Order: sequence, then C-alpha cells, then structure tokens
Amino acid sequence: MKQFLSINDVTDLRALLEKAKQIKLNPNANRSLGKNKSIGLIFLNPSLRTRLSAQRAALNLGMDVVLLDVNSGGWKLEFGDSVIMNGDSAEHVKEAAGVLGRYFDVLAIRSFASLKDRTKDYSEEVLSAFATYSGKPIINMESATGHPLQAFADLITINEHKVQERPKVVLSWAPHPKALPQAVANSFVRWMRASEVELVVTHPAGYELADEVIGSVPVVYEQQEAFADADFIYAKNWSSYTNYGKILTTDPSWMITQEKMNLTNQAKFMHCLPVRRNVIVEDGVLDGESSIVLHQAENRIISMQTVLHQILKESL
Ligand code: CP
Repeated sequence: MKQFLSINDVTDLRALLEKAKQIKLNPNANRSLGKNKSIGLIFLNPSLRTRLSAQRAALNLGMDVVLLDVNSGGWKLEFGDSVIMNGDSAEHVKEAAGVLGRYFDVLAIRSFASLKDRTKDYSEEVLSAFATYSGKPIINMESATGHPLQAFADLITINEHKVQERPKVVLSWAPHPKALPQAVANSFVRWMRASEVELVVTHPAGYELADEVIGSVPVVYEQQEAFADADFIYAKNWSSYTNYGKILTTDPSWMITQEKMNLTNQAKFMHCLPVRRNVIVEDGVLDGESSIVLHQAENRIISMQTVLHQILKESL
C-alpha cells in the first residue's frame, strides 16, 4: 500500500481483512517493523478516538509518533494558488507539507469539510495538497468527504459480530443540532458496497448522498420499513449534499429507539462516536446489549495498525 486516502487504495480487501484479524490476535507481533520510522499525526480538527488509536497503532509497530494540532500549535495554513497572503494565514501548505515530509516517513491528516463550497470539499483540496507537497505516504484520518479508517474498523466489527453470511446492514440518518459532513456516511457506503452485505440506506428526503457514492444501493425513505429484518443498524447524521451543508430537518422521530430496534432481526447498534445521547439514539439502545459502539472504537486501533503495517511493508 502506497497511501490510504480512500478504499481505492485497497487492492485486495479480503487480504486486508485477514491481516487485520492476525493483528488483532497478536498486536505486538511486529514491534520491530516500524523501528527508526516516524509518523506525524496532523490534526486540523478535534478528535478523541482517531488521535489516540493512531498513536496506539504506531506505537504497537515500534514507530516514533509526533502529533500536531495545527489550530492550537501551528500557523494558520493557506491552500489557495497565487494568493496574496496578507490575511490571517501565515504559512502556505506548500512549505508546511514540504517541511513535514522532511521530518516524517509517513503523514496522517485530519481535515474536515468546510460545508460551504461543495466543489472545493469534494476535490479534497487539503488531503491532495499534503500528498502532493510532502512527497510521503498520506493516511486519511477523516477528510472532507471520507473517513476510511472508520469504515475499515466498522467492517472488521461487522465481520466479528455477524451471524448471517450476508447480513442486512442499514445506514440510518438520525437528527443532530449541528451541520455535519457526509464523510462517515460516504465511506461506510463505499466499504459496504465492496463487502458481502445487503446494504440499505434510510434518510429523509433531501439527504441523498452523491450519486457516485450511493450507486445502486436501495434508499428507503420510511425508516421503520428499512429496519425490518436488519442485522446491523448504523446511525449517523449528515448534512444535505444537494442543498450543500444545510440542515433540512432535526425531526426527533428519526432518533433510534428500542421500539424501532424491536423491528429488526435482533440487530446490533453501531455508531462511529462521538454520539449525542437522546438525540441520535436513546440511552436504552446505547447502553443495551445490542450496542457494539465500543467494539467499533477498539477496532480503530486495528484498522490503523493494519494500514500502517501495509505501508511500512510495501512502501518504506
Ligand atoms: N470516530 C471518530 O473519528 O472519532 P474522533 O472524531 O473522536 O476521532
């Protein structure tokens, strides 16, 4: 693996899942693989799971890890071409990424969508700039349009908990008071489409994902109808793609409740976290036996360690 920007960088998903299984069985088996190799974890947005699971994963492989919160410890970055930099931004990404590329063997970047300019966000301007100007393998720790480390961890978790060979997986939109990116939903759909699952997406009208993301996945606008016979319910909010970045509704009737979970095939409840209790999902579901959100979070170490393992093996 040369980089990990999206599922497109995975040539053999089955083999990657097998590697993840081995790593989970013995996470300390490759402590010398990353000896004298370093990773810079660069955050342009907040994080709990990603920042700590990425550190844990790199340490498990014996790498040196350095973390930078750009907004609190770095210079404000400029990304535009030919910009007269007489405003807030003190440093251009060309120099910043170039410097980081000289300090580290691998760079991992978190940079959320602006939710203001869809064309810019979907061009992945920030991730592409770091890839271009650092000259080093880049790992996507959630970009404007994708969160592949989360989706990989979600797939590992589904494989660990599935009872059916080809489980029914429902991605359900749920309400949220703030406008959130489509990144998690986009990656979840892309990774499920590449997997042995029956995927159904349910959301209110106006929350359709990009055509190239959803492809031929069935969209059911009636949430309770979608839940019938589901083996996994994955809840997530996202803002509108068509009316870009807008909240069209906060209808509480879309919250995940035990009553709705009772319509399923004893489905497991999933969410990437952080989650707003009694907004996205009611306490009883999150605290109940069907919830596997902590398993997902635990597998964030495994997804990152597997990706890093492959990059160390194949590209460094
Ligand atoms: N799921 C996830 O990426 O969590 P953090 O935003 O806390 O990293």
